[in-house]
Amino acid sequence: SAYHGGSPYLQGLTAISTWNYNFPRGFGIHNTMNPDVFRGPYGGHKCRDTPNDSIRKCDCTQNECHASDMYIHQLEDLLSHSCPKKIAAFFAEPIQGAGGINQFPKDFLKGAYKAVRAKGGLCISDE
Ligand SMILES: Cc1ncc(COP(=O)(O)O)c(C=O)c1O
Ligand SMILES: [Zn+2]
Repeated sequence: SAYHGGSPYLQGLTAISTWNYNFPRGFGIHNTMNPDVFRGPYGGHKCRDTPNDSIRKCDCTQNECHASDMYIHQLEDLLSHSCPKKIAAFFAEPIQGAGGINQFPKDFLKGAYKAVRAKGGLCISDE
């Protein structure tokens, strides 16, 4: 659910249906799962490091959030199965504006950046 722009190349990075149109886009770009603790498959209340919290219940035990690990595993899966051995870069939109003022779960970026750097990728935080 990231918004990165509307020009032909950036259209492929932008993974939010509201801003995607019916023309070929995203050559060489892979979109990963949105680490959304509010609407996504993992996470809920207190998974984010933010005062804007979700009312959705989280399966995590107290002080041990698994949402981040689950989304990082999904990214690692994409990196090892869909991407080439070396990648150029990873774009993140840490606080997704158009996506609903949505923040990643605690420690997600740390783990994501580690996985990306292991593949030789540059980490870009687009705010
Ligand atoms: C997070 C984010 N990235 C990229 C863009 C697009 O910026 P530009 O049109 O300057 O490429 C925007 C525009 O709103 C944005 O909010
Ligand atoms: Zn949690």
